[in-house]
Amino acid sequence: MVHPIVKFPDPILQRPAEPVTEFGAELKALVDDMFESMYDAHGIGLAAPQIGVPKYVTVLDLSFQKNSEEKLVLVNPEIIFREGKQVGEEGCLSLPDIREKVSRAARVKVRAQDVNGDWQEHDAEEMLARAIQHEVDHLNGVLFIFRISALKRDLALRRIRKLQRAGEW
Ligand code: NI
Repeated sequence: MVHPIVKFPDPILQRPAEPVTEFGAELKALVDDMFESMYDAHGIGLAAPQIGVPKYVTVLDLSFQKNSEEKLVLVNPEIIFREGKQVGEEGCLSLPDIREKVSRAARVKVRAQDVNGDWQEHDAEEMLARAIQHEVDHLNGVLFIFRISALKRDLALRRIRKLQRAGEW
């Protein structure tokens, strides 16, 4: 089922999600809904709070449905290794039309459970490393506009308020 995407400044996006402790049909349904909602919104990554569910789950598909092997489900993810630096533009389904350059680690190793509760480690670099860091930030209640300079953030917040006033947010 496709869910509407929760937008900034909804408070659910700015507080840490809760760890997943039960691995059953409910979690599988949530993951299915997250992929559906992400594709519907033309995104390549989505965290559960973005559809209003404060759980520590994120899904990614950098191929956007072109390669099922690139579908990634991270339950209770933790970045256990970071190396190097990359700077690149990011956007977010919860902050439509806002794009800014964000500094991230170039390579990461993430430890996470799959939908069955099995722990796995994933090595990622470049775009995937960036996307994982963006999504794990979401689960910790951090949006990418809080990873840019105060000056750029103020400009972005001003733009959002203007869009809100115009009824376009
Ligand atoms: Ni995002």
